[in-house]
Amino acid sequence: MGKLGRKDVLRSDQFTVDEIDLIVKTARRFEAALDAGEVLETMRGLVLVTLFFEPSTRTRLSFETAMHRLGGDVITVAEAKSSSASKGESLHDTIKTVEGYADVIVLRHPRIGAAEEAAAATPRPVLNAGDGAGQHPTQSLLDLYTILNEQGEVDGRTIALAGDLHNGRTVHSLALLLSNYDVRFLFVAPDALRMPTEIVEQVTAAGIDVRETADLGEALREADVLYMTRIQRERFEDPEEYERLKDAFVLQRAMLDRAKPTVTILHPLPRVNEIAADVDGHPGAAYFRQSANGVPIRMALLALVAGRA
Ligand code: NCD
Repeated sequence: MGKLGRKDVLRSDQFTVDEIDLIVKTARRFEAALDAGEVLETMRGLVLVTLFFEPSTRTRLSFETAMHRLGGDVITVAEAKSSSASKGESLHDTIKTVEGYADVIVLRHPRIGAAEEAAAATPRPVLNAGDGAGQHPTQSLLDLYTILNEQGEVDGRTIALAGDLHNGRTVHSLALLLSNYDVRFLFVAPDALRMPTEIVEQVTAAGIDVRETADLGEALREADVLYMTRIQRERFEDPEEYERLKDAFVLQRAMLDRAKPTVTILHPLPRVNEIAADVDGHPGAAYFRQSANGVPIRMALLALVAGRA
């Protein structure tokens, strides 16, 4: 189905470079059409269901906006508490049920591997909008799209991923996606929140140079792209451990004096304390442009998995 090798979007390491290029080109085409005020009919007659069993603002709303912009329809379960999952229904049964209502399924779930399970249960395309501390591939594609827009290209760039690299699904997926390019990584985390070994190994095996550090200042001096992340409170068993780590890194405007003048600062949002408000006025502070890029990227993904691009 579609021009992607498979109908589902489950992990960021599923894509070939050609597929990534196709997604980016398709997103650019849709973005230009929106900018020109065109009313699109690409997904006319199709229904998207968004099933969110964890909180979300950007991911759900940008998927829904994307479907509306393409002329399609949307149904949603935004709160697990209001669905039958709270009565004990299995994910399998929920997916078999919505398969009867919708053509494309977007799922966010607290369990690692939930999107794969859902995809195995249905012939409908399933897009992983975050599976616990696992992956978040559609976010990584919009992160890449933002880097291309802000920096002109990805090749040759030093990318620093900072914060909760252990639990953060956005950084897991982004490290794998960017391994398709000629980049250098700095993984910046307190010792307790380092990037999982499997990801470090996979990235290294792809021939990418990786340095791990706990020093944000060091990363700041070298980075072309600084990707900040939230400490993932909901993944901590011990609230005291969260309290100890929650302010591990706080980026402030004055610290940017040490950065490259062309630095791009990204964050998947929501931010808690990681980026002070005074950073927002810096020309490289791209996190709100980044969240807006969720719309064209998700338009591209929806149209491609539905074979309508
Ligand atoms: C992220 C997520 O849900 O993983 N948010 C998002 O999708 N933009 C990041 C986070 O919650 O910290």
